[in-house]
Amino acid sequence: ARALESGAGKEALSRRQFMRSLMWGSAGLFALEAALSGLALFWPRNVKGFGSTIRVGPLADFPVGSVTKVREGKFYVSRLENGFIALYWRCTHLGCTVPWREDEQLFHCPCHGSMYERTGQNIAGPAPRPLDYMESTVESGQIVVNTGKITQRERYEPGQLT
Ligand code: FES
Repeated sequence: ARALESGAGKEALSRRQFMRSLMWGSAGLFALEAALSGLALFWPRNVKGFGSTIRVGPLADFPVGSVTKVREGKFYVSRLENGFIALYWRCTHLGCTVPWREDEQLFHCPCHGSMYERTGQNIAGPAPRPLDYMESTVESGQIVVNTGKITQRERYEPGQLT
């Protein structure tokens, strides 16, 4: 009978241990979740914030009036008379990728028909504002675009470059 009792005791003990480890396990998970959600507060919401700097090429290689797609950074380099502007290729309506239409000399969104000039200014369709642009500079004659810095604007101001 004693052997039976101790067997039952062992079983109860291991059940208790199991319950305890379950409890600690879920407490651990809870703590981990809380820690992660705390971290998320400091995490940049905009994943684009992790973008990098892209050296596009020599400014001299971009003739005035040209619009060049830079697939790697999801933007266009639009060469204007007074410089250039790096335009993020997402439509400001609902985010479709907007192609540059050489035949129309416009960015024309295939989703709902928004149209943008080479400066990014919206001129037709449901787009609420111009194409967003990326911070860019010229370093040693090379166009350098910071894909982590995407800026919205209400309208294109003539002469505005990034
Ligand atoms: Fe471009 Fe709607 S997503 S017009």
